[in-house]
Amino acid sequence: MVDERRTDEAIEAEAPIMVQVQNISKDFGSVHALDHVSFQIRQGEILGLLGPNGAGKTTAMRILTGYFPPSRGDVWLKGERLFANPNVVKRMIGYLPEEVSLYSDMKVREYLGFVAEIKKVSRRRRKPHIDDYLTRCGLWDVKNRLINQLSKGFRQRVGLAQALIGDPEVLVLDEPTSGLDPKQIIEIRSLIRELGKERTVVLSTHILPEVNMVCDRVLIINEGRVVASGTTDELEAGLKDRHEIFVTIGDRKMKDKAVELLASISGVERVRLVEEKVDQVSFALSATHGADPRSSVSRIFVEHQIPILEIRAGRLSLEEIFMKIVVSEKDSQNYL
Ligand SMILES: Nc1ncnc2c1ncn2[C@@H]1O[C@H](COP(=O)(O)OP(=O)(O)OP(=O)(O)O)[C@@H](O)[C@H]1O
Ligand SMILES: [Mg+2]
Repeated sequence: MVDERRTDEAIEAEAPIMVQVQNISKDFGSVHALDHVSFQIRQGEILGLLGPNGAGKTTAMRILTGYFPPSRGDVWLKGERLFANPNVVKRMIGYLPEEVSLYSDMKVREYLGFVAEIKKVSRRRRKPHIDDYLTRCGLWDVKNRLINQLSKGFRQRVGLAQALIGDPEVLVLDEPTSGLDPKQIIEIRSLIRELGKERTVVLSTHILPEVNMVCDRVLIINEGRVVASGTTDELEAGLKDRHEIFVTIGDRKMKDKAVELLASISGVERVRLVEEKVDQVSFALSATHGADPRSSVSRIFVEHQIPILEIRAGRLSLEEIFMKIVVSEKDSQNYL
């Protein structure tokens, strides 16, 4: 599954820009939900918006779908200003909102027929079009069931199907796998990958592995700002460059002394306490570009008779990158 990630150079270099978000901010009274956010999405790309609760993901998606305008800045869809001509442009977008409000007293097929009508799918095309998405979204067996009698996972699929009706070129999916069981999650992720072959997709999530499995590129958002972007490999490589070194000592009483010594080593940018147990304490060191302080660490600890249990250079997982980027903003547990 992980290896399904595309490396299509075509996406990077040649595909036209479908969505251009330029310097948007959104204020709700004194809350700055988005603060000077810019990014672009190329045709055929699957972009993941990753961020903790309240980061601004839903707000960004609502702006992208024309639900409300930004307080400042602009959005272009295929070269057209979104808010200059919202109705025409909106038809290019399929939207799965965070909370799907469906016409729950309708049957699945009936509801999708209603959506097709609103989205102006021609009468002749309507039946095969709906049948196609009933099948692709795994809804065929429940097509004649009332929506309000479906489980949450199936209602989520109906939400996805309604977003797809009319074959929009851009899909905006707000936490598409939330509330699904593990089997459904796997199915929906592979459906999104499949759909992403023909379409441009932007999805939000706070599930890190999802970004790895589904997205070509990720934008990490925190407190309304883009704090990092790139492919997951690029993010990993970028931070790996800075070297994270993990050091574990076998004497808790020496903790403060160890921090002081580690901080004095040249090339060490930051010392962070990772774990403290009865008989051992672990630290993570951020080293400046090109520096490898491991030998200095072992020398200085030996000199001061601090027992070393482990020293290793670590490659950061996406999870650690996320925590590092998001947490470093707040500089929590930071000794330097
Ligand atoms: N309509 C609104 N009125 C006032 N504040 C809002 C409104 N919508 C969002 N906010 C605020 O904007 C910020 C960003 O919210 P948003 O829903 O975009 O976050 P999110 O990244 O989607 O979070 P989650 O992961 O919880 O869905 C939050 O502080 C939120 O309280
Ligand atoms: Mg949200």
